[in-house]
This record gives sequence, C-alpha cells and structure tokens, in this order.
Amino acid sequence: MVMQQSSDKTQYYLHLEEQYGAHNYHPIPVVLERGEGVFLWDVDGTRYYDFLSGYSAVNQGHCHPRIVNALIDQSKKLTLTSRAFHSNLLGEYSKFITDYFGYDKVLPMNTGVEGGETAIKLARRWGYTKKGIPENKAKIIFAEGNFWGRTLAAISSSTDPSSYKAFGPYMPGFELVPYNDLAALEKAFQDKNVAAFMVEPIQGEAGVVVPDEGYLKGVRQLCDEYNVLFIADEIQTGLCRTGKMLACDHENVHPDILILGKALSGGTMPVSAVLADDDIMLNIKPGEHGSTYGGNPLACAVAMEALKVLKEEMMAENAEAMGMILRAELENLNSPRINLVRGKGLLNAIVIDHSNKEAAWELCLDLKENGLLAKPTHGDKIRFAPPLIITEEQIKECVGIIGKSLEKLG
Ligand SMILES: Cc1ncc(COP(=O)(O)O)c(C=O)c1O
Repeated sequence: MVMQQSSDKTQYYLHLEEQYGAHNYHPIPVVLERGEGVFLWDVDGTRYYDFLSGYSAVNQGHCHPRIVNALIDQSKKLTLTSRAFHSNLLGEYSKFITDYFGYDKVLPMNTGVEGGETAIKLARRWGYTKKGIPENKAKIIFAEGNFWGRTLAAISSSTDPSSYKAFGPYMPGFELVPYNDLAALEKAFQDKNVAAFMVEPIQGEAGVVVPDEGYLKGVRQLCDEYNVLFIADEIQTGLCRTGKMLACDHENVHPDILILGKALSGGTMPVSAVLADDDIMLNIKPGEHGSTYGGNPLACAVAMEALKVLKEEMMAENAEAMGMILRAELENLNSPRINLVRGKGLLNAIVIDHSNKEAAWELCLDLKENGLLAKPTHGDKIRFAPPLIITEEQIKECVGIIGKSLEKLG
C-alpha cells in the first residue's frame, strides 16, 4: 500500500472538489497551481514532471510564452463576435490552417468531441448528397476500442461499458469493426450505405494501441476503392505528438476529413477544427451547423501561434528523438513489472504486469511521490506522454524516477 501524505492545503482543495463537484473523474490526489514547460507545481510548491500533458493538449509545454502572449494580446482586442458577424482573424486563420494541412476548407469548433460530431455530420451529408445513400440510411464505421469523447454520439460508438452503460438509447447508424483489421473493414464496406470510417491512427485512450505498419495506407486504399470517407481523429495523435505533424504522415496518408483539437491551443483553451475539401465541406449550408464560440478571434489567434510554435521549435523532430530514448531507457530498466512498452514519438504507454489489479494506480501514486505525474488508463496501462520540449537529460531523470517507483511496487 502506498501511504499518501497530503498537506492540509491539499486536503482543503480535494475536499472542495469532492463536496461541490460532480464525481465524474477519479484524479490522482495532487492539486496543481502552476505549470511551465515540462513541469507542474502543486499548492505546496512541490515540482513534478508532467507525463500526461493534459492528454496531449499541452504538447508545446505548459504556458508556452508565445502562445500565452498571443492569448493575452488578442484578449485585449476582441474575443468573441459569434458567427453572426465576421472577424478580421477567422479568414486569416482559415487560410493559415488549410495551407498548413493541405485542405480546401476548415470548420472551426471548440472541444474535440464537437470535432468528431462535426466530422460525422459532414460524412452523413456527403453520403446523402454525393454518394446517393438513401435518406436516414447512412452508416459510419468505427474501430473497437475507440475513444472520441463523451457526447451521446461518442458513447454510442464506444465499446467501453464505463462510457456507454445506462446512458442509452444510442445513436443508430454506427457499426464497429476490430481495430487494425483491414479484412473486417473491407467486409463492412460491402454495405453501400457506409459513408465513412472514423479512426484514430493510434488509439490513445485504449492504452496507446499502435496498429501494424501499413494499416493506415490500407484504410486509405479501401476507402478509395469503396467510395467511403476516411475520417482521421488526430485529436490526440496529431500536432507532433507521435514524431510527425500528424500520425497519418508516418504512412504518407491524407485523410478525407481530419479532426484536430487539444494541442491546437497548446492547452490554453478549447479549440478544435475539422478539415476537408470542398466536395465534402460545401454540402453543409448556412444555418445547418455551428457553435457560438467556434472560430472566435481569440481561438484563431491562439491556434495560429500554437501551430507556428510546433513547426518553428521542431517539436515533431524532438518527439521522435526523445520517444526513441524514452522507450529504449524503459526497456533497459528490465523491470519484471513492465509487460510491454509501446508507442510512437512521445505518445507511449507501459503495460503493468502484476497480480494486484490496483498496481498501475499505486505505481502512479508512487510516481507522484517521486516527482512525476502520470495516470493509468484501462486498469493496467500507464501513458507516458510528456510535453514535446522535454530534453534527453530530463527523459533520463524521469526514467530514473519510474525505475525507482517500479522497484517499490514489488
Ligand atoms: C482521440 C480523441 N478524440 C476525441 C477526444 C475528445 O476530445 P475532448 O475531450 O476535447 O472533447 C479525445 C479526448 O481525449 C481523444 O483522445
């Protein structure tokens, strides 16, 4: 058992959340009040390495000065117009992000899950207007183990009971195939009413499940062959996290619809985006989709700076190089408690081998005691995904912390 020593201050904040907040999360008991780069500080001034990066929203590092300055500067000028009016930044941002990723158009939203919802609406609409699917018959295929958020549509495609159980009835028109299984996908595509396949290039929440090389290329080929849209959910894998700008870039694959979120704002505010070409995007007409905050000038300014920072500070290259070192060093620990090390770039996970079902959770508590914050996913897996600005020296120090904590796990 890990003995947790919490200060009175920490206890005070934990109690407030427990008493007045809904109990829909189970956080590690640490109360943070400051972040800078790869580090976080709690209310007692204790410093930690952040090995979660806000589920990959903080790829650029906490409070990146350029992103924060963009946020502050723009917030003094104009923050929200709604889409009832134009702003001087939406057009510039739209041009910037479509050039950046090579699409005709962008549809700006806020959270990741709204990006997913938007992509599905676009795919259904394309299915009816372009593919000739009969009204209300469009199907979207998802991979088992997917995670794209918590709305009713998102949980309707989930295979995780803790996501969907007792929240029904569910969205019709969704079907599942096993992940990383092209034969199953081709079988599903025999149905002429399939409009799209929506997939994460690496499944993040499922525990960093990396498909076989060639899977994404295979998905692209099948989508072309059967006239089905390829929707890539790069909300967690995108924006340099896996060692390339997009995880799809590892296989030189260009999805029909690209969903981005999280690090699009460097962790400063919810900003998501759906990118597609005119043939798909222009089927949605004025008044048929939107959001009060989507495309607001503050988000536009922040997203442009967040994207510039990623490229100018070579974060993909660093993620690739540091990821190799991290996985090699973790393997070198030769810990009998690590069943598996997997990942790409700085999106990694270890699978814990222990008879105690709580071992991953207890390890995370020990990691916290030793100065590193991480969180288990799906019981026995722990994601290791630090900000992409981490250095080799820091990675080595962190692996030292992980090794020390594993030893204590027994
Ligand atoms: C792959 C993926 N898609 C979508 C989402 C949902 O994003 P949000 O929590 O911003 O709605 C997540 C969140 O973790 C995600 O990992």
